Amino acid sequence: MSDLAIDVRGLTKAYAGRRVVDAVDMQVARGRIVGFLGPNGSGKTTSLRMLCGLLTPDAGEGQVLGLDFRRRAADVKRQVGYMTQKFGLYEDLSIRENLDFIARLFSMPDRRAAVDAALDRLGLATRQKQLAGALSGGWKQRLALAACLLHRPRLLLLDEPTAGVDPKARREFWDQIHQLATEGITVLVSTHYMDEAERCDELVYIAYGRVLARGTAADIVATSGASDLEDAFVRLVGQATDNYAGAA
Ligand SMILES: Nc1ncnc2c1ncn2[C@@H]1O[C@H](COP(=O)(O)OP(=O)(O)O)[C@@H](O)[C@H]1O
Ligand SMILES: [Mg+2]
Repeated sequence: MSDLAIDVRGLTKAYAGRRVVDAVDMQVARGRIVGFLGPNGSGKTTSLRMLCGLLTPDAGEGQVLGLDFRRRAADVKRQVGYMTQKFGLYEDLSIRENLDFIARLFSMPDRRAAVDAALDRLGLATRQKQLAGALSGGWKQRLALAACLLHRPRLLLLDEPTAGVDPKARREFWDQIHQLATEGITVLVSTHYMDEAERCDELVYIAYGRVLARGTAADIVATSGASDLEDAFVRLVGQATDNYAGAA
């Protein structure tokens, strides 16, 4: 089997004739953490949803976890943990009830053990009876991560998982991400935070649905002649606006 967890070319999606994802190539090696960055509306969420089989692309070919991601979208979905921007928890269920509900959705054998393991892993055991709706942003995010790990996915697609979460909780979340990667789980994660981008093995930067840069943070800074990563992205999006915005 390929050592790429994601190997997709030409990913494209149009709405009302406008290509919001335009021929995006995405290659992610197994066990790597790749950051997905770009301005609001650049096509990150749409790309992630196509990669995990939730949204049908207009074009694009390739494999996710060694499976044809278009023809075998249902099989891909079962092996991918997808964390949405808005977390998607049931606010009037407790932490344990949320996890148990998801374990039922996946028809998991030995649900109780799986839920216990997820509670332990994310440090949620002592809070398991608290209602999800009463949790702070950082704890909601932990619960959301526990939920998307429950079915033991080999690939995590995380869509701005730390948006609006305090810095300490963000650091702890990233410690978890690195721990998961050492266990062989592959992570593609969108973020707006530069400190998080610096913690990724590689970055993919998109604007107007097109990939403008990819590589390590150091590569991207060097190639663009910028002083730091944020400056590099400002330059890249400035060039893209000159090139594409009129035509888009
Ligand atoms: N279901 C949809 N119908 C029409 N336009 C959409 C839909 N989903 C996303 N878009 C548009 O596609 C573009 C990319 O959106 P999105 O993938 O959410 O970007 P990002 O996650 O990078 O902010 C935006 O202009 C957005 O308004
Ligand atoms: Mg988004």
